Parts: sequence; structure tokens; C-alpha cells
Amino acid sequence: MGRAILIDTDPGIDDAVAIALALAVPDVEVIGITTVGGNSGLQYTTRNALRLLEFFGRTDVPVASGYDEPYARPKMETGYEPVHGHDGLAGVNLPEPTTKVVSTDAPAFLAEKIRISPDPVTLVAIGPLTNIAHLVDQHPDVIPMIDRFVIMGGAARTGNVTPVAEFNIWHDPEAAKRVFASGLKPVMVGLDVTHSVKTYENLWEWLSGAGRFGEVFGHILGSYTDFYSSFYGERMTHQHDALAMAEAIWPGIMTLEDAFIDVECQGELTLGMTVTDTRLRQGVVNGQVAWTIDGDVFHERLMSALSNLAATIN
Ligand code: RIB
Ligand code: CA
Repeated sequence: MGRAILIDTDPGIDDAVAIALALAVPDVEVIGITTVGGNSGLQYTTRNALRLLEFFGRTDVPVASGYDEPYARPKMETGYEPVHGHDGLAGVNLPEPTTKVVSTDAPAFLAEKIRISPDPVTLVAIGPLTNIAHLVDQHPDVIPMIDRFVIMGGAARTGNVTPVAEFNIWHDPEAAKRVFASGLKPVMVGLDVTHSVKTYENLWEWLSGAGRFGEVFGHILGSYTDFYSSFYGERMTHQHDALAMAEAIWPGIMTLEDAFIDVECQGELTLGMTVTDTRLRQGVVNGQVAWTIDGDVFHERLMSALSNLAATIN
């Protein structure tokens, strides 16, 4: 029995790496992708999901688009240039997709895939949680049917968009609050673990001999590295989404701790903070926080998988 993966995503450069990883490993089968507004507008994140799948030769994977606007508030601007470029993939040279979405109702698409899957389903959300909040509102029956729910988002002890908030949660805090309260029990792969892994530029040197895959991913990762270098002063990136995908594909690759997690939706300074309580004095657990991963193991598995995928693309 395999493991079925559903990916909710806002591609997005690190999303593209995470999707490639999921498609590259034989351990899991990607049974669907849904898109959400986040790194760029929905029209771009959807265009990117479609053209990435076409590039990977995987148009068998269905795509459904979801929500562009946040769950309960107008879209906020981060105030700095889009990290992933206006189009979400740093203006990469990829043709327009020739495929279309199978639905524009991401929650209904996800619910149907969950209901009919013969294999345990892991739902992996690597963008804002807007679609997932609507999923639990509109299709609560599927909550107990989801075998595992892994998110890239939040942080127990730090932030990126603000000192205490991570982008996916900050972009749609009410959606995240709804999801943490829903009973889905997310594994929160947040900045606590993703900031502990630095993917230095030299780890991508193999892309120069990886044909068309190397051209495309060399371009988008070069742009992502430029951003990180300007922001953090090192030629490296944090592969946030691929790290979350690694925990989804290889459960236990990270150390996890039970927690009660809630989301600040009002604070002037703390909006979007994932308030993470591991004291468990009330004995209530609504998720797990990911703390550590062996970065060398992650990089070895990631680069091995991606180079295998690259070999299939002319
Ligand atoms: O904070 C990192 C997250 O925000 C990642 O999912 C990245 O793709 C952006 O969406
Ligand atoms: Ca993302």
C-alpha cells in the first residue's frame, strides 16, 4: 500500500522544489495539487503549478485552483519586493501551460480525492491555509479521513515577515486559526526547523550538468539565493517547503513535539504569530511542532531525488 499525497501550494520557488521532490520519490504518489494565492496571485500560482507539471512530464496529476483572497481579511502586502518575483517563479523561461485546471473549487476537489483514495492520504499545505480553512468549513466529514496533515508554516520561536510571524500564517491568520482549531492536528514544520537548514549555493552546482532541468531550476534558485544573500548576507537559501515535504514523505525525519498551537489575529505587533504551548498543562494537543532535522540527510535525499527527476527531462 502506497501513500497518497495531496499538495496545496502557492508556487513559488521553494514550492517548485517541494513539488519536484514529491514527484521524484517512489515512496509516494501525488494524487492532486491545489493552488492558493500567496507568493503571487492565484492566476500566477495556478499557471506555475500547471507549467511545472508539464515541464516534469506529469500532466497526469490533476490541478484545481482555490482561493486568491484570504479567508477573512483583505490581502496584506509585505512591503518588500516579491521574494519569488512578480510571476512567482522569478520570470523563468517556461512555456505557457497547454493544460487547464480540472476544477476551480479546491475544497471540493480535495474532499473528493480524500473520500475515494484507497491509500492513506497525507495532505501537505505549503502556502497560506486559505483553501484548507474552506475545506474544513465546507467538507468537515473528511477531517477524520486524512491520515496526516503536514504544513510549512508558523514558528514557535521566531518569524520572517515580522519578528514573530511566518509568511504563510501571516498572509492569512484567520485561516490558520480555523485550521488549528479544526481537529486536523497539523504537523507544523515552521521556521524553527527550516531556518536551521542552510542550503548553500554550492549544493546546487550539479544543476550545471542537468540539462533543461538544470537551466530552469538553476534560474529560479539563483534568484532565490540572490534574495537570501541580500537579506541574510550568505549565498544560501532556506528550502522551507521541501523540508515540510521531506517530513510528509519520510515521517520521522524530523523531531516533533506535541503542542497546543493558536494563532494571533489581533495583535499590532504579533499578528500571525503561532503561539505554541508545549507545556500541555490542560492536556490538550491540537498539533505537533517540528524542531530538528539532520541537514546533511535532508540535502543528500533531496539532491539525489531531484537529480533522478532531472534525468527524465530532456
Ligand atoms: O515563509 C516561507 C513560506 O512562505 C514558504 O512556503 C514560501 O513558499 C512562502 O510561501
Ligand atoms: Ca509556499
